Order: sequence, then C-alpha cells, then structure tokens
Amino acid sequence: MRIHDADKEFVWHPYTQMRDWNSTDNKVIVRGKGFYLIDTEGNKYLDGNASMWCNVWGHSTNKVIGTMVRQLRTIPHSTLFGLSNAPSAKFAEKFVKVAKGMQKIFYSDNGSTAVEVAMKMALHYWINKGNSEKKRFISLEHGYHGDTVGAMSLGYIAKYFRAYKPLLTRVYKAPSPYVSDTSSKAEKDLVEDCIEQTESILKKYSSECSAFVMESGAQIAGGVIIYPSDYQMKISKLCKKYDVLLILDEIATGFGRLGNMVEYLAQGSRPDIVCFGKALTAGYFPLAITATTNKIFDAFLGCYSENKQFYHGHTFTGNAIGCAGALANLELYEKTNLITKIKRNSEYLAKRLKQFKDLSIVKNIRHKGLLAGLDLSWKGKPIKIIKDKGIINYYIAQESLKEGVFIRPLGNTMVIIPPLAINRYELEKLLDVQFSIVKKIQGNISSSF
Ligand SMILES: Cc1ncc(COP(=O)(O)O)c(C=O)c1O
Repeated sequence: MRIHDADKEFVWHPYTQMRDWNSTDNKVIVRGKGFYLIDTEGNKYLDGNASMWCNVWGHSTNKVIGTMVRQLRTIPHSTLFGLSNAPSAKFAEKFVKVAKGMQKIFYSDNGSTAVEVAMKMALHYWINKGNSEKKRFISLEHGYHGDTVGAMSLGYIAKYFRAYKPLLTRVYKAPSPYVSDTSSKAEKDLVEDCIEQTESILKKYSSECSAFVMESGAQIAGGVIIYPSDYQMKISKLCKKYDVLLILDEIATGFGRLGNMVEYLAQGSRPDIVCFGKALTAGYFPLAITATTNKIFDAFLGCYSENKQFYHGHTFTGNAIGCAGALANLELYEKTNLITKIKRNSEYLAKRLKQFKDLSIVKNIRHKGLLAGLDLSWKGKPIKIIKDKGIINYYIAQESLKEGVFIRPLGNTMVIIPPLAINRYELEKLLDVQFSIVKKIQGNISSSF
C-alpha cells in the first residue's frame, strides 16, 4: 500500500475532520533537514509552526539528538517507581538553578498531563494541610491547558469540549487581559479592570479554591493574547493575599518563546507550581515537568500510613532519553546563547510586522519574542470564509504549503511561531510567504465586494 493510502486508511488525526482529510493531498513527512520538513516526494516545507510550537533547533542532527541516541544505547528506560535514573536527577539539579524559586521536579510525558499533575498536587496539598474545602480552581477566559480531563475543565471551549462535559470539573473564570487596537480603554485601565474583577472572584470563592491556573506571559491557543506588563505580577500578589496557589502553565511560552528563558521570572510573578513541556526537549521527545517549591513538597511528607504521598505516576515518568535530551537542550541554550539570538530575531520580527500593518485586512498585531498574532478582518468582522476558497485557516495552510511553508493559523488569526533557533534567512522566508498570502486574501476579498 502507498504510504499516503495507509495514512488515510488507518491513521486518525487530531482535531481533524477525517472525511475532508481523506479527500486531501496528504503530505507524509519522511525526514527533516535544518528548519525544513521533507515529504515522500522530496518536497521541502519550512516548519513555520515549529511542529506545534515545540521545535527549537530544527530537524537536523545536533547535540540534543546525539545525546538522546547515546542514552538510547546506554539504557532507554528504567522506572522512577522504586529506582532512580541518572538523567532525571541531573536534569532536575540543573533546571532548579534556571527556574529560580522552584525546588522539586515531577516528570510526565506531555503538557496536558503536566497540568493534570499540577491540579492534583494543588488539591492534595490543601488536604494534607488539613483543608478539604479547597476543591475548585479558577482559570482565565481564553486559556488553553491541554486535552486531558482536568486541562479541558480549565480551558473549557464549548465548541471543542461540549461532548466531554460529563467528565469535567467546575472551574471559576477570571477575565483575560486582552488589549485590542479598537479597545477604548488604555492598557493600564484594562489591567486595573481585570485585576479588580479577579479580586472580586477571589474574595467570593477563595475559601473553596485550591489554585488559580493561567498560562505564563501569554495565551497562545486562545488567540495570541499577550499580557500587559504587571498583569501577571498583580495576579501573583492577589493569589498570595487570598491564600490560593498560583499554577503557571509555561508549556508553550517558556524556554524563550517570549524572549525569556523562564517567563514567570521575567513577569515578576511567584508561582507555587509551574508546568513546562514542548521546547523542554527541543521538541524531540514527549517529556513534560511540573516544578514546585519545598513549601508544596513538604506538605506531602509523613508516614506511609498517613497517606500523604502524591499518587501520580506513569510508566514513562522521568524517562531517561527524554531527561538526557532535556539536559543537553539546556546546555545548548547556554552554549549558543540562544536567548540573545531570539531577542535579535524578535527585533527583526517587530520591524517586519510594521509592513503587515499596511494591509487593511490586518488588525490587532500582537507580538512578543518569537510569537506574533495578526487578526484578519474585513469591515469590522473576522474573516472566516473566503469566497470560493473555503474556511480561511484551511485556505492559508494550503496556500502556504504550495509556497513551501507549513503554518497553522488559529481561525482568522495568523500565528507566527517559528522554531526558536530559526535563522534570519528562514524567518525572512516565513514572513515573505505569510505577507504574500495575506495580500492575496485582501485582493480576493476587496474584489468580491
Ligand atoms: C499553554 C499550553 N498548555 C498545555 C498544552 C498541552 O500540551 P500537550 O499538547 O503537550 O499535551 C498546550 C499545547 O499546545 C499549551 O499550549
């Protein structure tokens, strides 16, 4: 069977209407080179989506991959149930020096699970402290934390998750600090409003809430909402004031995406629990972590009979290949001074985004680090469908592939989220293609009115 047919016949793709998939020209990636993905026919696609926001160094062999291959040959996996392994201990020792304020690392396999771990940790912490009333959570509107049960509860989006509602737990919602070009409020007033509303929620519900959960620095899946300065720091202070733990989800925003290695430090916030994933292993291996403080950890100490221990673990918790890769990745960040390169590329991106402002269908450009979101709208309304071409995000993705670039917009929001170590040449290409596609859409829309 042709590999394309095998894919259509047997593989069920995530978030995909498979009836449509089966009628598409499915691209099957067989290898990678530099920042490019290469398909069965030898076509090259610039990975403009960083393979779902996680790729750092591109797809060629490098030190991180070399280290993981060596670990695979040494010992690929041994359990953390009743034994330890060297890479998980070494990575934890190194990472707590980077993620200042965190002292303990709990390992899991993907971002959603790291969030699930954080939720269980928060609930159990309060019980171990003798408070069984704190059973609920507060999260931000437009937040996204993954697709497992707890994570869906935190980032509930009716369109996606309605069918799974019987599984979910009730979560209180605080407003998200979205600043738009058309907003009549100044950024400072908007932050004050958000903080005021959040404080009333905390006043009312803090006695029943174990933790406040939000993405750190920006919400990406919710539409690229970048927090105004001081917002996260103020939320952090409120959580302390109302005795609610702060869980930060840095899965998509940490490791330099917003220009800082550790975003919660740059935001001046003091979380109790922080989740990392995606770029943790340079996007090469399914590993995630839930980092926490000695204050939380110590509440789990006692005799076995007290039942205070944390009941969570997976077959692959602390997998040796993933941890060895994460350690090599951290070392490569330091050795190459990647954060400085990201900052330089971010300045370049800022300059190029000015060019997009000249296109009349581009509204509300948001940018920080190597992340940008641009809303496409016409006559004040989001562009959802393009006449004779179909749904806008699908159209943009297909057009980009024709131009040799892989991207995935979020609805009518174009997202610029390249591999973190992308070179200037490839970044230019990515932006050139995005620009020409938006221009084409603008021409198409204006001519159909
Ligand atoms: C902020 C955030 N949290 C959690 C997740 C879930 O991570 P994973 O897809 O690895 O389960 C994502 C995924 O995009 C995310 O963006």
